[in-house]
Amino acid sequence: MDNAIIVRDITKVFRIGHNRQIVALDNVSFEVKEGEFFGLLGPNGAGKTTLTKIISTLLIPDSGEVLVNGYSIYKEPMKVRQSIGWMQGETGGRALYWRLSGYDNLKYFATLQGVNSKVAEIRIKTFLKFLDLDKDAYRLVKDYSTGMKIKLLLIRALLHNPSILILDEPTVGLDVASAIKIREFLRELNEELNKTILFTSHNMTEVEQLCDRIAIINKGKIIFVGSARQMKEKVEKVKVVSLKVRMNGKTENELVSSLMKMNSVEKILSKRNDEGIYEFRIAVRDPYETIPELVTKLKDWKIEAIERSLPTLEEAFIRILGGDYIE
Ligand SMILES: Nc1ncnc2c1ncn2[C@@H]1O[C@H](COP(=O)(O)OP(=O)(O)O)[C@@H](O)[C@H]1O
Ligand SMILES: [Mg+2]
Repeated sequence: MDNAIIVRDITKVFRIGHNRQIVALDNVSFEVKEGEFFGLLGPNGAGKTTLTKIISTLLIPDSGEVLVNGYSIYKEPMKVRQSIGWMQGETGGRALYWRLSGYDNLKYFATLQGVNSKVAEIRIKTFLKFLDLDKDAYRLVKDYSTGMKIKLLLIRALLHNPSILILDEPTVGLDVASAIKIREFLRELNEELNKTILFTSHNMTEVEQLCDRIAIINKGKIIFVGSARQMKEKVEKVKVVSLKVRMNGKTENELVSSLMKMNSVEKILSKRNDEGIYEFRIAVRDPYETIPELVTKLKDWKIEAIERSLPTLEEAFIRILGGDYIE
């Protein structure tokens, strides 16, 4: 199978003022195969948007090379753009003309992109219908919900019939129904129309549902690439103790520093405060060894419950970000 996207040693530094700089991407390399559904997962500021913009020729990297359908972003940016449909969810549709109808927006962008008018009409109608937007197509975009605007942006990205879609957080901030509809649409585009899809998300469940492969990016570096199954295997290795404790007049900071001093405690994954009872989720090397140790250590606090617990996907992700699985 050929590669639709090849990213090689991409570095991007943003210079701010005279002496400050941010390394947004640090030697990033990976490939996306033709027809693959590929997810880029990472926390805020990890470099996801920068990376998708570089692949789509919207930003120029400091070094490295990107090939899209074999075309270099430097030598043949127009060919790259013809191959790609790009959209960003986070803007909430500010890239659209609010005083035009949804349909007129799409017709306008199709004309800009030089798509034959009849062909454009067929594509627009088909996609509007699939996304349940056909009834609202003639309303003004200013009266659209976020979900409707995102659907419109997605259709806009498809007008020139690109073989590759690059979607930056397409479902962020959407209501559940719109997010489900959009995921269904993306799956259809991938499975039925064989579109290669690279998309970014912080939503672990979504990424796991949709993707053939996932890359995790953190602080500008790719720290994991693999299938959902391989990621699951990492999840299974994460051992978590759930500790519910009443503070008894002591502070949370005292408890946290006391926990962090313990050898067997690797990381506190999350905590929740529920009417004076804190629940800490703690990554440990060996839960059976750690639980009695914790009980002794926390004799001055009132332990309400302590048990081995299965990690959530999110906790596994935090663990991978923590560096334990860098190969
Ligand atoms: N135009 C810019 N100027 C300066 N810094 C930027 C710019 N764009 C992004 N950054 C910085 O680069 C890093 C990566 O940002 P971004 O690619 O937007 O991450 P993500 O999409 O994963 O949240 C962040 O530290 C961000 O603040
Ligand atoms: Mg982003």
